Amino acid sequence: MGYLHVNGDPSVPQELVVFVSGKGSNLRAIYRAIQTGALDASIVAVFSDRTCPGLEWAESVQIPIKSIRNSDPELAEKVAVFKPDLIVLAGYMRILKSDFVQAYRNRIINIHPSLLPAFRGKDAVEQALTAGVMWTGCTVHFVDEGVDTGEILYQNVVEIKPDDTAETLHARIQKEEHELLPKVIQILSQKKAKS
Ligand code: GRF
Repeated sequence: MGYLHVNGDPSVPQELVVFVSGKGSNLRAIYRAIQTGALDASIVAVFSDRTCPGLEWAESVQIPIKSIRNSDPELAEKVAVFKPDLIVLAGYMRILKSDFVQAYRNRIINIHPSLLPAFRGKDAVEQALTAGVMWTGCTVHFVDEGVDTGEILYQNVVEIKPDDTAETLHARIQKEEHELLPKVIQILSQKKAKS
């Protein structure tokens, strides 16, 4: 076994609530990393604002699921029931309300398919292609009240090829996301052990 990244530093197991709106490949990457012993964490619940493959998959592996409305004034309380150490936005397509962000300040992370601060918001992959840049990638960052503006934690870089379409480029970015996101959670759990 061996933790993702660096060293054998001790870690504090992280209880995760994961938010999804889509296919859930990042959710599955986190789950896989836990199963293989690479990530010292457990997924205590998956929240979603819609019926989607990510939510259906979570149900199929017996992770508790919650269907939510993003505008629910009690969202923070609903999440608090699960006592998460960390909330992971893994393809969650809504902007969280500021009272929720405040309640979980520095305990919400998001994965975004660009090298922030470039190409914030929707269609980040298309934005990179349109801009004609040679490199893009993915970023894990803390969530604040803005759109993809929170503190950047880690990034992986992806080269853009001349014949890339949004689909081929997004596929390569996602490969990096699946490596990066569990790694960052593990690093945060190791940081916690040191503090
Ligand atoms: C990812 O590309 C992520 O960067 C973005 O939404 C996508 C979610 O993909 N925020 P998946 O649902 O994890 O497959």
